Amino acid sequence: MKKVGIIGVGEYLPKKVLANADLEKMVDTSDEWITTRTGIKERRLASNDEAASDLAIAAAKEALSSAKLAPEDLDLIIVATITPDMPFPSVASIVQNALSAKKAAAFDVSAACAGFVYALSTAQQFISCGVYKNALVIGSEKLSSVTDWKDRNTCVLFGDGAGACVLGEVKDGGIVATYLGCDGSNLNLLNLPAGGSRIPASHETVDQRLHYIKMNGNELFKIAVRTMTDAALTVLEKAGLKFSDIDLIIPHQANSRIIMAVAKRLGLTEDKIFLNIEKYGNMSSASTATALVEAAKEGRIKKGDIVLLDAFGAGLVWGAAVIKW
Ligand code: ACO
Repeated sequence: MKKVGIIGVGEYLPKKVLANADLEKMVDTSDEWITTRTGIKERRLASNDEAASDLAIAAAKEALSSAKLAPEDLDLIIVATITPDMPFPSVASIVQNALSAKKAAAFDVSAACAGFVYALSTAQQFISCGVYKNALVIGSEKLSSVTDWKDRNTCVLFGDGAGACVLGEVKDGGIVATYLGCDGSNLNLLNLPAGGSRIPASHETVDQRLHYIKMNGNELFKIAVRTMTDAALTVLEKAGLKFSDIDLIIPHQANSRIIMAVAKRLGLTEDKIFLNIEKYGNMSSASTATALVEAAKEGRIKKGDIVLLDAFGAGLVWGAAVIKW
């Protein structure tokens, strides 16, 4: 099996900033509540003419340039998203066309906040067994398009953005182990009820606000802490490593209190945790992606470091990965 590593990174965050103070004017909330309960200070919002594919394409271009590869070098494009431009075709097809990545296969992965880790692990399999040489993996979301801006329980949490990685064969290090899982029994805790084949869009579904994210945050909070801790333990065991070997944990950025509770259970100190939730909120699949990209760009990850990705989201699904940088 070939060793597969991240050879290029890129991100795109829309320019428009929505601060907690702006939300105070929209719903009955306060900067103090949002900051202390979630760790979020502001989030980015895509413009009306920007869809998930536009964010993905911008992040992809930066990742390709950082990998020093041309679009024609790509064999595979996987986009993790729960906010595709439309039900079909895939965002990955739109990205493939925009980049003119002529020989790339392309498809989307729907695994909510764990989507980026699911996509990363999928791409790794194709390269490690020699089927493909280079893959582009993107987490891209326009969650603002499915956020109920009248619901204070959810609208303070989400934001828009995209992160991208190019994967290729490496001599040393790379992805050491991944662990993906699902517990579909709790899928009602977090979903978007209408617009699919179960409840197609109608005037009634619009009137009942069924095209927006519905979430039982309190229940999810407890499950997230337990599941992310277990996923981290399992992937480390698969990698044959100990917690003391971890240089940086890059968790899904749903809530800083979830992240701190997981870190406490794992015995990790704050300097080993990467956070960008304060700036961007929860961007589902794009959260882990941009956090990894920013950690690399900011020099928080050095060559030889052991990085642990740990994500959890709607499904319920989880995904963890150990990468030697
Ligand atoms: N401003 C002010 N008050 C609020 C707000 C708000 N924005 N939102 C809720 N409240 C109120 C509630 O109404 C409630 O009031 P009550 O006690 O009078 O009924 C009170 O604050 C406490 O509400 P809780 O829901 O218990 O608050 P909690 O501390 O659990 O925080 C939160 C809520 C932030 C949603 C948290 O539960 C959380 O982060 N959950 C996990 C989310 C998650 O992990 N999602 C999975 C990934 S996301 C994905 O896959 C797309």
